Order: sequence, then structure tokens, then C-alpha cells
Amino acid sequence: MYIQNGEWVIILGVRNYFRKSIFKSLRFRLIILMFLAGMLPMIVLKAVILNSYEKRAVDVRTADIQNQCTILCNQLGDLYGQEGDTSDIVRTQLVQLSNIYNGRVMIIDHEFRIIEDTYGMDVGKTIVSGNVIRCFSGEGTSRYDAGNRYIEVTSPIVGKASEMTEGVMLVSVSTDTIIDSLLVLEKRARTIEVVTGLILLIFAVVTGAGAVRPFRRITSSIEAVTEGYEDNYLHENAYAETVFLSEAFNKMLGRLKVLDESRQEFVSNVSHELKTPLTSMKVLADSLLIQKEAPVELYQEFMEDLSEEIERENKIINDLLSLVKMDKTASGLNIKTENINALMERILKRLRPIAAQRNIEVVFESFRPVSAEVDEVKLSLAVSNLVENAIKYNNENGWVHVSLNADHKSLFVEVADSGIGISPGETEHIFERFYRVDKSHSREIGGTGLGLSIARSAIVMHRGAIKVYSQPGEGTTFTVRIPLTYVS
Ligand SMILES: Nc1ncnc2c1ncn2[C@@H]1O[C@H](COP(=O)(O)OP(=O)(O)OP(=O)(O)O)[C@@H](O)[C@H]1O
Ligand SMILES: [Mg+2]
Repeated sequence: MYIQNGEWVIILGVRNYFRKSIFKSLRFRLIILMFLAGMLPMIVLKAVILNSYEKRAVDVRTADIQNQCTILCNQLGDLYGQEGDTSDIVRTQLVQLSNIYNGRVMIIDHEFRIIEDTYGMDVGKTIVSGNVIRCFSGEGTSRYDAGNRYIEVTSPIVGKASEMTEGVMLVSVSTDTIIDSLLVLEKRARTIEVVTGLILLIFAVVTGAGAVRPFRRITSSIEAVTEGYEDNYLHENAYAETVFLSEAFNKMLGRLKVLDESRQEFVSNVSHELKTPLTSMKVLADSLLIQKEAPVELYQEFMEDLSEEIERENKIINDLLSLVKMDKTASGLNIKTENINALMERILKRLRPIAAQRNIEVVFESFRPVSAEVDEVKLSLAVSNLVENAIKYNNENGWVHVSLNADHKSLFVEVADSGIGISPGETEHIFERFYRVDKSHSREIGGTGLGLSIARSAIVMHRGAIKVYSQPGEGTTFTVRIPLTYVS
């Protein structure tokens, strides 16, 4: 048969459907499992029962024949050695036995010649079999030939006078009646099997559908949430597993909501911060425009203000750009082995003039030479932000104490100041974007609340950590730990 391309597509599609949907479905697997769990024990039980029945029936029949043989052999033994022709009596007895069991009875003498045969076929012939030989030594035997369906029993005929085994009685009885009953039993068992199989299948299909229903409900709830029904939390408590799943999902949903809220807050904060300097610029420009003949000094003054606002806008944009860059994982790091002592000196040299304006003393203490694998620009940004804050939120004539230390694994930078401090409730928020303690006071000082956020991002990118200890009115200490070798 020639199969065209389109047909192949359909065949592969159907195959994939079965692979993906049917065989992988939990419902299908449950149905198969329940069906097998019900059927397998039944099939095994049936085989065991039928086998034991056959064995038991054969054993009972064999024992029965053996009994009859022993009785007859005893009688025959009595006749041995008696005067006169006893063959008629013997024959009548044998025929009776053969009629009872619907079998064949033979008498064999010690020359292994058949001297009596109820079938009358083999008289005079010789028979030498293991069982007959064993029986001549005085031990009766029995054997079941399942293939040819007969039981064979031998029994020694011991002469009463001679007390010797004079002959052997060999009885073969067909087991057809046993096999017939077995077949009837097997047929009944098969009917029960088919009926039970059908009931099991229906049961498995129904319970299988019920068992996976909670998972379907979970799927539709998740879909509903995806479509935007935001408050649709999952509450599926059919199984312990679905309870865990619902809890995990609800936790994730909660986290997503928090993230979404913080994203919205961030966007509104950014727009607000960007708009503030623009509004000031607009007010300054407008007030100049209204005054037709404004003096040059006023122009001069307003232009300075305008320039300051532009500077502010520029700083906000730069800070935002730094933050965005930091968010883009650590792959953006430019790691080199740096002399940290020199790096600190450079930062402080740049910031000392600003501190000097308010007569703040900046002290640097280095406990040992430290070199580490860091991104120089980003680490400088982090430390600069900390020292800038220490100067900004300080009192006139205060001090800033910066120290550098290291152990075999990490370097430690500490920036302590004698400034205004931060109250305990605020310390956990100061690393958030745009967060500023006491807005009115901070406004006088100026800033956007992005500095610490940038600093922390830079430190985290280096797999480091930052902590703050502060007491309002007494000062603040920031400690930074950074691993000496960078682990990507
Ligand atoms: N050394 C300090 N002493 C007292 N308060 C501080 C100190 N450092 C930070 N803060 C508080 O934490 C807030 C957040 O600091 P952050 O550096 O993030 O923003 P900022 O300094 O206000 O603005 P900028 O983005 O210009 O740095 C500050 O507004 C200030 O209230
Ligand atoms: Mg700052």
C-alpha cells in the first residue's frame, strides 16, 4: 500500500495523540492499574484452584484403585498354590474391577508374561517396565500420566503359601471423567472471569474519572487565574497532595501579586521622580516668560536653578540606568583582580571635598593590603553611595569612619558615621527603591532613594552581603562582605 505525505501526517498525529494524551494520562493509568489489580489475582487463583482440584481428584482415585487392588491381590494370593483351575474365579474378579473403574486390568507372572488381560489383547506377551520390576520386589506403585490421561497402579500378588510375590496386578484407568469435570469447572471460571472483568472495567473507569477530577478542578482554577480572576485562590482539599499543590500555588500567586504591586509602585515612583524636576523647570521658565522686562540678575538666578534641576533629572536617569543594568543578572560584571586599598583611596579622595564643606572628617583605616576579584566600577558605585550617605546624613563637624579588612575568604568594608541615624522600623526599608526616611527632612537634604538599592544590587552581584546597624541620633554603620574570589 502506498502512503502519501498527508496520510503520514495523520498517522503520526494519531500516534502522538495516543502517546501524549492517552498513555500519559493519569486516568488511563489508574484504569489499567485497577483492572490489573482486580484481574491478576483472579487469574492466578483460578489456575491454582483448577490445578489443586485435578491433583486432589487424581490422588483420591489412585488411593481408591490401590485399595481395591490390594483387596483383590490378597484374594488372588490365597488362590495361589491351591489345587484345580482357579482361572475363572480370577477372571470374574478382574472383570468386576475393570468394570468398576472402566479400566484395564492385567496379571503378570514372574517371567513378565501377561497371563490375564481384561481387554484380552496382550495375553502371552511380555511386559518389562520399571514399575512392574519394582512391584516384584514387593512394593506397589502408582503413576499419573497427565498427557495420555490415565492412572497406572501396580500391586504385588503374594502367594499365601509361598509368602513370595507370585505375580503383579497392573491396572490402568482413564482419567477422562476427572478431565471432563475440570473442563466444566474451567468454563464456569472463565464466565465468572469475563463478567468480573467487565464489572471491574466499569468500576475502574468510573473511579478513575473521580480520582482525577480534583486535578481537573485545579487546572481550571489555574486557567481562571491566568485569565485574570485574581482573587481565585486554589482550595482543593480532596487529597493531601492537592492541598500541598494548592498551598504552593497560592503562595506563588501571592508572590506574583507582590511583584506586580512593586512593579506598579516602581513605575509610578519613577514617573513621579522624573516629573518633579520637570515641573520645577516649567515653573522657573514660565515665571521668566511672564515678566517681560526681568532684570539680568533674575535671569541669572533662575538659570542657575534651572541648571540644578537639569542636574537632578540627569542624576535620577543615571541612577535608574545603573539599577536596570544591575537587574540584568551577573553576566554584565567585568571581573578583574583589583587592589581594594587603592580603590578605597580613590573613592574617598573624590568625596572628601564634599565632606569638608560641612567640616566632616573622613578617616580611612586599612588593616591589611587587600586584593580581590571584583567589578571595579560597580563596587566603587556601592561604596561611594554608602560614604555619600554617611556624609549627607551627618551633622556639621561630624565624622565618617571607613575601614577595610579581610580574612582568607572575604573582604570587609565598614562605613560608620556620627550622623542622624535611622530608627529601627525604617532600617528594613532603606534598601527599597525610592525609599527615603522622613520625606520632609530628606527633601531638604536631597536625593531619590535609589543609592542604597544600587549599592545592594552591586554587592549581591558579587555574591556578597550588606548589613546596617543604626541608632537614631547616634549614627549609622553599614558593613559589607564580599568574597575575595568571584564565583560565577
Ligand atoms: N548613613 C545614613 N544615616 C542616616 N540615614 C541614612 C543613611 N544612609 C541612608 N539613610 C536613609 O536611607 C534612605 C535611603 O538612602 P538612599 O541612599 O537609598 O537614598 P538617598 O540617599 O535618599 O538618595 P540617593 O538616590 O541620592 O542616594 C535615605 O533617604 C536616608 O533617609
Ligand atoms: Mg544616598
